[in-house]
Amino acid sequence: MHAIEPLPFSEALPRAQRVVQTCLDAMLPERGDNLTSAMRYAVVGGKALRGFLVLEGARLHNVQIGPASMAALAIECVHAYSLIHDDLPCMDDDDLRRGQPTVHRKWDEAVAVLAGDALQAMAFELLAHGDIGRAEVSRDLGYALAVAAGRVGMVGGQMLDIEAESRVSGHTLDQIEAVQNGKTGALIRWSAMAGAMLAQAETHALETYGDKLGLAFQIADDVLDVEGDAATVGKAVGKDADAGKATFVSLMGLDGAKRRAKDLVDEACDALSVYGEAADTLREAARFVIARSH
Ligand code: IPE
Ligand code: IPE
Ligand code: MG
Ligand code: MG
Ligand code: MG
Repeated sequence: MHAIEPLPFSEALPRAQRVVQTCLDAMLPERGDNLTSAMRYAVVGGKALRGFLVLEGARLHNVQIGPASMAALAIECVHAYSLIHDDLPCMDDDDLRRGQPTVHRKWDEAVAVLAGDALQAMAFELLAHGDIGRAEVSRDLGYALAVAAGRVGMVGGQMLDIEAESRVSGHTLDQIEAVQNGKTGALIRWSAMAGAMLAQAETHALETYGDKLGLAFQIADDVLDVEGDAATVGKAVGKDADAGKATFVSLMGLDGAKRRAKDLVDEACDALSVYGEAADTLREAARFVIARSH
């Protein structure tokens, strides 16, 4: 059994990438078939921000690395599935993800749909695994993830995102927040809370942090779509306005959206006061989220 060591953000994020990779190798070793290869391809190569949030929340509650890494991999599997499907021709129709061909471009659409489906199932397999902890911990994490991933969470937000494309008149702030809270916020909120849930501890502070962070994260993604270049961002840019996406930038302009993101980051950091300096890595992460270039 190993505790999770405190590290500055610049080292803690790469650690999360390694932890997710190691857990993936153990749970889903490469077998050379298309389905396994596509699933592994989709999970690696990202920032692992959601896995990082799980590990940091777990560290604040003295949860061991073993169960924390399984929950970290679980959320990265759901995130990877959401990206595979988001990139499909019937959704955002993208060819590039993390500087590499999207799954349906590297394989084909059937492999992409099925790899996404299997990654979603694998997340719940991980949370139901005996090594995650007591049965109630499995149940609570699985229940919360099902809600976060589904109709009132990520999938619901994706539906609103797609429906907003065909709306002729503008979008209100409430409509835009509903899209973003669903499609991006729900998985980030779960990631932030999971460490406390693993310890069966109070989740309120981490939930508020995750809520604010999720919105700030999607604002930064929308800003990068306008200001970033594809080589650095690792995906196509300049698509949201053409597609008629409901984004904070479309409503508030670039400066307004950036100001809102900055306020959300301050609120996210304030929400962590109960943890004192022990939560400084999470505060650094919040500042990174709006300063990032990819
Ligand atoms: C991109 O998420 C999709 C959104 C929810 C905006 P990330 O920027 O976290 O993607 P990776 O995993 O690091 O590639
Ligand atoms: C994607 O939002 C959110 C999910 C995958 C759930 P975007 O469509 O803005 O993400 P990118 O820009 O393709 O990464
Ligand atoms: Mg999308
Ligand atoms: Mg997209
Ligand atoms: Mg985007």
